[in-house]
Amino acid sequence: MLMANFMKTRKSIRDFKNKKIKSGDVKKLNSIISEVNSLAKLYSVDFHLEENGAEVVEVLKGKGGYAGTMILAPAYIAMDIENEVPEAYIYGAYYMEDLITKLQDIGLGSCWISLHNADEESMQKAFPDKTGKIEFALGIGYPYANLNIGEEKYSSRLGLEDFIYDGDFNTPIRIETLESYGLDDLFYYLRYAPSSKNLQPWRFLITDSEVELYIENFDGHENYVDAGIVMYYYTKLAEASGIRAKWNLDEKPDAGNKKYIGTVNF
Ligand SMILES: Cc1cc2nc3c(=O)[nH]c(=O)nc-3n(C[C@H](O)[C@H](O)[C@H](O)COP(=O)(O)O)c2cc1C
Repeated sequence: MLMANFMKTRKSIRDFKNKKIKSGDVKKLNSIISEVNSLAKLYSVDFHLEENGAEVVEVLKGKGGYAGTMILAPAYIAMDIENEVPEAYIYGAYYMEDLITKLQDIGLGSCWISLHNADEESMQKAFPDKTGKIEFALGIGYPYANLNIGEEKYSSRLGLEDFIYDGDFNTPIRIETLESYGLDDLFYYLRYAPSSKNLQPWRFLITDSEVELYIENFDGHENYVDAGIVMYYYTKLAEASGIRAKWNLDEKPDAGNKKYIGTVNF
């Protein structure tokens, strides 16, 4: 599926069919996971599949998810981090999102789940293959078909001028300026990226020939995940317009309540 179409229709699935992942799909899933792991391991990240969702739910109900509302799924993919540095969360999220786009190709829906409130003992029980720290996982399974009954429920998104700035943070971008840079389509779709609690904390500052990414009101690892997700989609959407995006996670000062993450070309 074209990345732009995928972005517009991409949404978290929280109700799955009560059906185990078919063995043929488990095989495909394992091969997708091992392909993505070969890249993610550069950042000490390892994804693993937990096929027995019922056992995970048993241990993590009341502990995982927003305020203990665990997402019930037939299976889970854990993001296991060996070395807890910002790059691991950023690129862990980047590659998890790559996994999500590939899951869709084999008919599986998914939802990110925050697990940082669950205690270590429960996490070890839920994910026996765990070797490092797991703070996020993906609930996966077969979604119900979209029968076009009633309205599709998509979460709301910010307007472009609410998260993109021109030269400095006092100047919200004008659509004409974004068009003159050839970035209007890219950002139109980029805002559909998912984020923790749908807070959409990404702020982009466009300078001469670069785009700087900041996170507003930075509040821990989930925001590094938000950053990695938006970096992934920026890269893929740029690729669709023939641009090879290269992120540089260098050191730059924060801007007030906005934490600097990295810079990319356009
Ligand atoms: C890092 C992260 C953690 C999330 N944790 C949860 C969660 O614990 N429970 C939940 O229901 N949704 C969770 N979500 C899903 C977001 O709430 C969802 O992506 C956002 O509201 C936008 O909705 P959409 O994905 O349908 O576009 C999480 C998303 C991210 C990126």
